[in-house]
Amino acid sequence: MNESKLKIKLAFITGLREIVFNEISQYANLHVIKEEGDSLYLDFAQDLAVIKRLRSVSRAYIVAQNSKYNPLYISNHKSILGNLVETITDKNKGAFKTFKITCAGSDSPEVRSIAEYMQKTYGLTEKEEADMKVHIVKSGEIWEVGIQITPRPLSVRDYKIKNMSGAMDSTIAYAVNSLCELENANSYLNVFSGSATLLIEAGQCYPNLKQLIGFDNNKKHISLAMQNIKKAGLIKKIQLKEKDIFDKPDLGKFDAITSDLPFGMTISKNEDLENLYRYFVEYCQETLNHGGRLVVYTSEYEILKKIILGSKIKIVKTLELKFMTSVNAYLRPKIFVCGLKKELCIKVI
Ligand SMILES: C[S@@+](CC[C@H](N)C(=O)[O-])C[C@H]1O[C@@H](n2cnc3c(N)ncnc32)[C@H](O)[C@@H]1O
Repeated sequence: MNESKLKIKLAFITGLREIVFNEISQYANLHVIKEEGDSLYLDFAQDLAVIKRLRSVSRAYIVAQNSKYNPLYISNHKSILGNLVETITDKNKGAFKTFKITCAGSDSPEVRSIAEYMQKTYGLTEKEEADMKVHIVKSGEIWEVGIQITPRPLSVRDYKIKNMSGAMDSTIAYAVNSLCELENANSYLNVFSGSATLLIEAGQCYPNLKQLIGFDNNKKHISLAMQNIKKAGLIKKIQLKEKDIFDKPDLGKFDAITSDLPFGMTISKNEDLENLYRYFVEYCQETLNHGGRLVVYTSEYEILKKIILGSKIKIVKTLELKFMTSVNAYLRPKIFVCGLKKELCIKVI
């Protein structure tokens, strides 16, 4: 095997590995060749459009790896980087105006000469917040030179008009939905819908769903959600209601229920979370159809688990996630995949 042949590198949130592998397995032309932490490498796919459509992946790059590809070597063989630049700009001229090189010693003469090459050859301007993100990094004995294939991470969806504080990462929303067995579902409820990330991901990925409803008690969040839904072209498909869980809104029964529960600093600061979660679990056990799936995401998983254990709901499995928030703190939330416990049938003779 030619060790420096181009590869696709996909980075994902810790804990979403099985979701990423499931998604990739749906494409016959994508082949995983190796894994490294929360990244995996694929054989280079000529058609980057397929890669750009992946929903469980946070970021995608084209990379070349070789034990020789240190900054000095790249500065003396600039066509290695040029090849990557031309591959991602091929059908995308004009999408990239600025660039940034992430590399140890970014002020060194070698890296400066690479930056000059990027400016002169491709007319790009060097900037801290850049469209084109180049990296030259060493992992073990191997150097990797790579470029992110899109100006924004894949996890930043086009339908997001504005980011709501406390909104869910869309790759996690995709994961939650993919754990609901939605291929066989007709009706879908999203409790605490916020800016509608879960609803939109469900509407876009599962056109078979006949009924998609969400509710939230915050007017501003409903209004932002409506804008996102409109941008996603799903205004006829998704219904949003302004309702409070404490009022036990009567919306019918559902094959799937999802929720990104309120927690932490930005949402429900003064709420008694335990009480809120209790109402939520009681509501779900009344509104989930038998054989249906309830999939819940929260950082306050101990509170949730305790309440579920005393309810008619059973936990089928959990996924533990870990990622860095925008304020550089680690969050370790969990996804709970649940169903209703089977009721005992007592036959009276
Ligand atoms: C973590 S956020 C959901 C974020 C959403 N998944 C998104 O991506 O934007 C939780 C939501 O619960 C809503 N909420 C809090 N308490 C509520 C209650 N008692 N009844 C209904 N909604 C409530 C908040 O307004 C907030 O939008």
